[in-house]
Amino acid sequence: MKTVLITGCSSGYGLETARHFHAQGWNVVATMRTPREDVLPRSERLRVLALDVTQPDSIAAALAASGPVDVLVNNAGVGALGAFEATPMALARQVFETNTFGVMAMTQAVLPRMRARRSGVIVNVTSSVTLAPMPLVAVYTASKTAIQGFTASLAHELAEFDVRVKLVEPGYGPTTRFASNGPNPAALIPEAYAPFAERVFAAFTRPAAVTTEADVAEVVFRAANDTSGQLRFPAGPDAVALAAAGASAG
Ligand SMILES: NC(=O)c1ccc[n+]([C@@H]2O[C@H](COP(=O)([O-])OP(=O)(O)OC[C@H]3O[C@@H](n4cnc5c(N)ncnc54)[C@H](OP(=O)(O)O)[C@@H]3O)[C@@H](O)[C@H]2O)c1
Repeated sequence: MKTVLITGCSSGYGLETARHFHAQGWNVVATMRTPREDVLPRSERLRVLALDVTQPDSIAAALAASGPVDVLVNNAGVGALGAFEATPMALARQVFETNTFGVMAMTQAVLPRMRARRSGVIVNVTSSVTLAPMPLVAVYTASKTAIQGFTASLAHELAEFDVRVKLVEPGYGPTTRFASNGPNPAALIPEAYAPFAERVFAAFTRPAAVTTEADVAEVVFRAANDTSGQLRFPAGPDAVALAAAGASAG
C-alpha cells in the first residue's frame, strides 16, 4: 500500500486531496499547520501531522514521524491580492517562503530517500495564473511561476533516479479558504488603482468557469499515478481551457 504526504490539508484543495487518496485505498499523511482530526475520516490509513513548510524543524519532525513517503504533494500555499506597488517587500518574501521556498525545502527533505529507493513522485500544486497572466497578483504569480521552472528542471535530473516530478495547475476555486487566507486586498489597493481594481474584482464575481476541490483532488491523483512522462496537469475547466488556449497560441 502506498503512502502520500500532503501539505496544507486543513482546507480547500489539500483537504479534498487527502480524502480522495484515502478513498482510493492509500495510506495518507495529512499535514496541517494546526492539526485537526475532525475534518477527515477516522481510519488506520490516515494520520494527521503538524507541518509548517516554512519551518525546517517542523519539516524534519513531520518526515521523521511519517516514515517513508511514496508521493509528496506540495499543496500548501498563500495568496496576495493587491497592486504590486503597494505590496510590502516583507509580504512578498513571506509569500515566497511558503509557495516557493517551502516547496523546495519539502522536496529536498524527501529526495534522499526517494533517490536511494529509486522510486517516488513529487506533485507541486501551482496555479492557472502561470498559464495566463492576471492583474493584481504579480507576487503570487512570481512565486508560482518559479515553481513551474523549478519543477521542469528537476524532472530531468530526477528521471535519472526514476523519481517523477509533476505540476498540477488548478484554476480559480472560490469555495476554498484561499481568498480569506491572504492579506486584506483593500489594504493593498491604493486610491489610484481603485477604479481598475473594481473592474478586476467585478470580473471575479462572474467567472465563466471555476475549479472545485474535487477537480483538483482527482487531477493530483492522476498526476501522482502518471507514468507517461507528462509534466503539466491543468485542473478544473477554467485551467484546462487556458492551457488549451496557450497550446494553440504557441
Ligand atoms: N483557490 C484558488 O483559487 C486557487 C487557484 C489556483 C491555485 N491554488 C493553490 O492551491 C493550493 C491550495 O489552496 P486552496 O485554494 O485550497 O486554499 P486554502 O483553503 O487556503 O488552503 C491552503 C492551505 O495551505 C495551508 N498553509 C498556508 N501556509 C502554510 C504553511 N506555511 N505551512 C503549511 N501549510 C500552510 C493552509 O493552512 P492554514 O489553515 O494553517 O492556514 C491551508 O490549509 C495553494 O497552493 C494555492 O496557491 C488555489
